[in-house]
Amino acid sequence: MTILRTDGITMRFGGVVAVNNLQIEINEHEIVALIGPNGAGKTTAFNMITGVYTPTSGNVIYTDAAGNDVQITGKKPSAIAKLGIARTFQNIRLFKELSVYENVMIAKHLHLKSDFMSAALHLPHYNAEQRQAEAEVEELLKKVNLWDLREEKAFSLPYGQQRHLEIVRALATKPKLLLLDEPAAGMNPKETDELTEFISQIRDEYNLTIFMIEHHMDLVMGISDRIYVLDFGQTIASGTPLEIQNNERVIAAYLGVEEDA
Ligand SMILES: Nc1ncnc2c1ncn2[C@@H]1O[C@H](COP(=O)(O)OP(=O)(O)O)[C@@H](O)[C@H]1O
Ligand SMILES: [Mg+2]
Repeated sequence: MTILRTDGITMRFGGVVAVNNLQIEINEHEIVALIGPNGAGKTTAFNMITGVYTPTSGNVIYTDAAGNDVQITGKKPSAIAKLGIARTFQNIRLFKELSVYENVMIAKHLHLKSDFMSAALHLPHYNAEQRQAEAEVEELLKKVNLWDLREEKAFSLPYGQQRHLEIVRALATKPKLLLLDEPAAGMNPKETDELTEFISQIRDEYNLTIFMIEHHMDLVMGISDRIYVLDFGQTIASGTPLEIQNNERVIAAYLGVEEDA
């Protein structure tokens, strides 16, 4: 069953067409990669899906938990997150001075519905919600092996673990669809292998669908069910890892482009 579909989304910035008529379909439980040279329009595509930008034209359609198609084009990022779409960003956005635990708890609170008023007054439903949030964060941190590091400040974690923590923050909002923007950026081969394992593990553990932008070809080819390739805003290919590796246009687009540039 389809979980996300983009119906010809286009994004113009002045004279620049960053993404042109993008047509993507992602099925539940798939891992789908979006690849392409720098400036191809990959992050812009994510920004249109998550409500950071409203497409100049076209629509984004999400199938919600009840199985209904919801047009999410132009909705606010917070409204889209509530429907079950979470993301990470190309650059680490942790609260560096806060602990691992606090980073995850804040992500959860931003997502919860209690307003500041009931939090300030400590109304009963707020307390119940808070207790449940604490229990869920504990369970999550244990599951992803960060519980023992919960008191550590985010900046003190090794780089690879900081990037894992970013993903865990996204998981705290209990998404159905998780968008990862270059999760392995700056990682060494060992960290990249661990991340590859982690992504498949959380997909199965939380029954997620994953849509990721990535340059590390070992990671992309190793775990993607399908791949879309963008170049100058255009989709130049889509298919299985094997089909993409042997695609002439893809090889040409990447020629002379350093991996992880
Ligand atoms: N907010 C913006 N304003 C103007 N141009 C932008 C903006 N965001 C992205 N672009 C342009 O859109 C194109 C695609 O950028 P981006 O989506 O970040 O590419 P990628 O993630 O594939 O490297 C680039 O030419 C970039 O300069
Ligand atoms: Mg980008």
